[in-house]
Amino acid sequence: MSGHGTPIPMTARAGNPLKGIADVPGDKSISHRSLILGALSVGETRVTGLLEGEDVLDTAEAMRAFGATVERQDGTWIVHGVGVGGFAEPSDVIDCGNSGTGVRLIMGTMATSPVTATFTGDASLRGRPMGRVTDPLSLFGTRAYGRQGGRLPMTIVGAKDPVPVRYVLPVPSAQVKSAILLAGLNAPGETVVIEKEATRDHTERMLAGFGATVRVEDAAEGRVITLTGQPELRAQTIVVPRDPSSAAFPVCAGIIVPGSDVLVPNIGLNPTRAGLFTTLREMGADLSYENQREEGGEPVADLRARFSGSLKGIEVPPERAASMIDEYPILSVVAAFAEGPTVMRGVKELRVKESDRIDAMAQALRAAGVEVEEGPDWWIVHGRGADGVQGGVTAESRLDHRIAMSCLILGLASRQAMQVDDGSPIATSFPIFETLMRNLGADLVRA
Ligand code: S3P
Repeated sequence: MSGHGTPIPMTARAGNPLKGIADVPGDKSISHRSLILGALSVGETRVTGLLEGEDVLDTAEAMRAFGATVERQDGTWIVHGVGVGGFAEPSDVIDCGNSGTGVRLIMGTMATSPVTATFTGDASLRGRPMGRVTDPLSLFGTRAYGRQGGRLPMTIVGAKDPVPVRYVLPVPSAQVKSAILLAGLNAPGETVVIEKEATRDHTERMLAGFGATVRVEDAAEGRVITLTGQPELRAQTIVVPRDPSSAAFPVCAGIIVPGSDVLVPNIGLNPTRAGLFTTLREMGADLSYENQREEGGEPVADLRARFSGSLKGIEVPPERAASMIDEYPILSVVAAFAEGPTVMRGVKELRVKESDRIDAMAQALRAAGVEVEEGPDWWIVHGRGADGVQGGVTAESRLDHRIAMSCLILGLASRQAMQVDDGSPIATSFPIFETLMRNLGADLVRA
């Protein structure tokens, strides 16, 4: 269970250039899926490079509650699964902490087994919409009883005789897509999910890797993913790649802190995740891909980010949004140091993340002296140039790791220090953030 007990105020201020190598932790999305698919497999799944952040540890605990064995031995995570349809009924409430990915994927995974489970989370997660997952799950025969507005705590009664479904995603969401595919595992026949915009494709890729039959076709109606139900998943050995969404923080810091030169090795550049890096290069950032290669069928590179004193604001193509959905908060920070406006459209999903990320960043940036305009699904940051951001305020992190980290990076390049009221949520996705940034030379302290 994730605790957000005592707030940890943190302060970041300008100082030395950032120099050195930033080894960021494992990918959060792939870490959740490794544990869940391991728990559904027969045999022993071994996972190295797992992100040991609170979100993923909550998913590990949940898999134990459903009957899998999950242990850590010398840095390797070992999962003994129960097989598709083999979930036991948990004897207590499942607490997914801060993790929307955790709770939505796990709800989907149990939705077609004859078990009942009650889910909750922290104040942030209890405020997030679950109807987007429980609506399609009801088509399998699953029932959900939550608070008004489809909020947690919520009890899910798994379907005893699930039927396969065909579902067109109404929102671009990998979490919803994945919940349906995971539910489809224990339904007979073919479950089909259609997405109009491609979202991260880790679930499809990993299901195939664990031995399921998954077909992906590009059709006029969108990307059509067809899963054949009731496979026997075979245990795997998984090396979790490093997280591009975590890499974003040292990369962007390197770009906006004068004199910096930062190397972030081994970052996956799967096109469904790499939109930020394309955007930064379009803004004129000195960001290069070194040692480009393929690992496990995915493009990988070492990212090298150097201080870029003449960034230009751009219009980010809306169709790129899904491939950088978690990176808009840190992009808005880089945009503050560019010349001219950066326009971000087609991003209403940002309003239902761990916090309303448009509102959270707009308030922090305005307080720091940056003009921001916003609407329901768009926002514009009016850049103030390389040395133009005042800073000097305390931002609210709102139980949102990416808001906390973004506001601290802002402080590393603004004229006066930035404080966040609570840095504790950073531990959900990037527990070594403080040490890693300090090792690069950042003036980042708890105070
Ligand atoms: C995730 C999907 C994204 C992202 C989240 C992780 C996943 O959410 O914001 O941090 O692992 O599937 P969407 O459901 O909006 O795609």
